[in-house]
Amino acid sequence: MSKANNPLLDPTRRSAETQLVHGGGKRTQFNETSEALFLSSGYSYPNSEHAERLFKGEIPGAHNYSRFANPTVDVFQERMALLEGAEAARGFASGMAAVTDAVMSQVRAGDHIVASRALFGGCRFVVEDFMPRFGVTSTLVDGRDPANFAAAMQPNTKLVFIETPTNPTLELVDIKAVADIAHAHGAVLIVDNVFATPLYQKPLALGADLVTYSATKHIDGQGRVLGGVVLGSKKLIEGDIHTFLRQTGASLSPFNAWVLLKGLETLPLRVRQMTESAGRIAEALASHAKVQSVIYPHHPSHPQYDLAKAQMTGGSTLVALDVKGGQEAAFRLSDSLAVILISNNLGDAKSIITHPRTTTHQRLTEDARLEVGVTPGLLRLSVGLESSDDLIADLLYGLDQI
Ligand SMILES: Cc1ncc(COP(=O)(O)O)c(C=O)c1O
Repeated sequence: MSKANNPLLDPTRRSAETQLVHGGGKRTQFNETSEALFLSSGYSYPNSEHAERLFKGEIPGAHNYSRFANPTVDVFQERMALLEGAEAARGFASGMAAVTDAVMSQVRAGDHIVASRALFGGCRFVVEDFMPRFGVTSTLVDGRDPANFAAAMQPNTKLVFIETPTNPTLELVDIKAVADIAHAHGAVLIVDNVFATPLYQKPLALGADLVTYSATKHIDGQGRVLGGVVLGSKKLIEGDIHTFLRQTGASLSPFNAWVLLKGLETLPLRVRQMTESAGRIAEALASHAKVQSVIYPHHPSHPQYDLAKAQMTGGSTLVALDVKGGQEAAFRLSDSLAVILISNNLGDAKSIITHPRTTTHQRLTEDARLEVGVTPGLLRLSVGLESSDDLIADLLYGLDQI
């Protein structure tokens, strides 16, 4: 009997849960069970010739500086790539660093970007305000209808950027349809997959070229560190993405990578529990007299329910609700909660309620906010790991105070 023929020695034959505990593992000579944390910015070489060969790229897997490679960050990247089904990944200091690298590395002055208008505020800023300063124009479209992307494509469109489900109104974009449109024009498709999580939606399998995450969200999942990751083909990741990371330095710290690795080990348990609670909350509030509407991708009332079922294997850990009575009612509800925190992160073990109009989407004009469904009464709830009975009781109490 020998282990050598065991098919599970091949990491790609393991299920996601197993990959998230063991994937990318590299042990030192001490055979530690938990991944080692390499807090080192540099690496020394046995001799000058070795250093020369290393800088020429002739020693694969060797390290020369932690701005562009560190053993703990490597393990995080490998584990994320296994989970996503990607050939390669690069870690970043934050989700915004990951998105900015992914976008900037694909365009040059004179190019054009098409993006869905319902985007996380920072991502929208990069596309709408930041890129034009460098000669890259952009068109924002209503992402719910793929025909809007087709209509916005120009001969110089090099990039299509989408987020699905969107923040905060959980609108969906049909990834496969938009990938086909982007590719027909020779453009690259980037999908920000934060809201779906890597467990419920596989953009690369649907045709995306690059996937980005704010690892600050579900991947850490316990509100501790910032981080980001970009995943895709070896060609894109080891080419444009790596070069941009290396030369601009938005690197993931080894300590944060180590915390994120610990987060990945429990990701499926947490996300499943949070999703189950989110589904229960959506159901409990859907017909409440003080609620105008509940938005939840896997609730039959979602306008894109069929797409949500086809594209996502789980319904999301977030629920949006529009309360009757506008901002005053929304504030009253939030201010009377005992368990759910008023904050703006998401994917945390602690449930968080956000009033997008006055916080995350404050920068937009009222018209732009209404265009993406950010009404005065809209609240975004990131469902945590507390008892769903307590969360429902907390919300029902809050609704009673309106
Ligand atoms: C969809 C989405 N993309 C990107 C980001 C940016 O991530 P980070 O805060 O880690 O920079 C966030 C959240 O902040 C987000 O919700």
